[in-house]
Amino acid sequence: MKRKMKVGLLTSGGDCQGLNAALRGVGKALYESVDNVEIYGMYDGYRGLIENDHIFMQASEFSGIIALGGTILGTSRQPYSDGKAILDDKGNDVMPQMLDTYNKLNLDCLVVLGGNGTQKSSELLMKAGMNVVTLPKTIDNDIYGTDVTFGFQSAVDIATTVIDAIHSTADAHSRVFIIELMGRDTGHLALHSGIASGADIILIPEIPYNINNVAAAIEKRKKNGKRFSIIAVAEGAIDITDIKLTKAQLLKKETDSHHPSISYKLAEELHALTKQEVRVTVPGHYQRGGSPCPYDRVLATMFGTHAAKLVRQGKYGHMVAMQGGLITEIPIPEAASRIKFMPVDSPYILAAKEAGTGFGD
Ligand code: F6P
Repeated sequence: MKRKMKVGLLTSGGDCQGLNAALRGVGKALYESVDNVEIYGMYDGYRGLIENDHIFMQASEFSGIIALGGTILGTSRQPYSDGKAILDDKGNDVMPQMLDTYNKLNLDCLVVLGGNGTQKSSELLMKAGMNVVTLPKTIDNDIYGTDVTFGFQSAVDIATTVIDAIHSTADAHSRVFIIELMGRDTGHLALHSGIASGADIILIPEIPYNINNVAAAIEKRKKNGKRFSIIAVAEGAIDITDIKLTKAQLLKKETDSHHPSISYKLAEELHALTKQEVRVTVPGHYQRGGSPCPYDRVLATMFGTHAAKLVRQGKYGHMVAMQGGLITEIPIPEAASRIKFMPVDSPYILAAKEAGTGFGD
């Protein structure tokens, strides 16, 4: 009899919409196409692999989950260090335990759904001798080597709905509103939702802003009879003075600051400069919650089934990706090598600028 194929599945890092749709794609495609397959789901990301906390997943487990938010396997953020080791809370290298689970279950391969940090840790799993296939998930859309990640479009939809709704109250009260969108390192989400909702100013990490230019854009609107202004800001946006600081200096400045986040700093500065009332809205994890939009369900299904194909072919060490509209794969070390920033000369930014949107530059 042909030997069983054994596949481990896990979702790691911050959740996003489409994780269950992608798990479904992997699971269904494997059960459809491989005669003798067993799938093991690890609970809470790497925690399940470290502690051998898993569930045997039958084909029925993958039914009825395409529209579900979150992840049926649970997830967690594993402390990650210098690129050389995956560490637990106490700083201990947990690779031996992970390898032990992998070997005990006699896995042929581990399919890992995760963001940037997870691509890096997957590279470490590979180096430790595991066969790994990864899928790119995050609302931030900042994974290198893929045009898009699942979760992004759903978050854009939510963020756009929030900014749309803020317009009427901003107008009614003649206020400046700052809406803070997720995006620690990159501005894909703030940019797309900002353009889609007609934000007047969009501030993203890729374009350091000058607060005087932001204030001037608000004043210009006032002069033109606009009673309100809408600013879409990525949580990682940075001004032209802070960009000159080292990482350590910036961290200290943020820790010492009385502002809970960038929006509150902006609000204080813009009120002082424009004398207009300024309010802040932070949708936070709302952007990551709920059912995936249809686009993400389709994308996650295509990514999931492609991952199953790579497993079937034994083409390990790759991350599933979309490039130029086609589903393909790239080596995990390449995906893990850097973050995908929004190019400052991207057609998105150019179109927004041509439509009169300010970026504070
Ligand atoms: O998944 C990435 C992200 O959405 C970032 O944009 C954000 O800074 C972070 O997650 C917040 O994650 P947590 O759930 O750990 O607070």
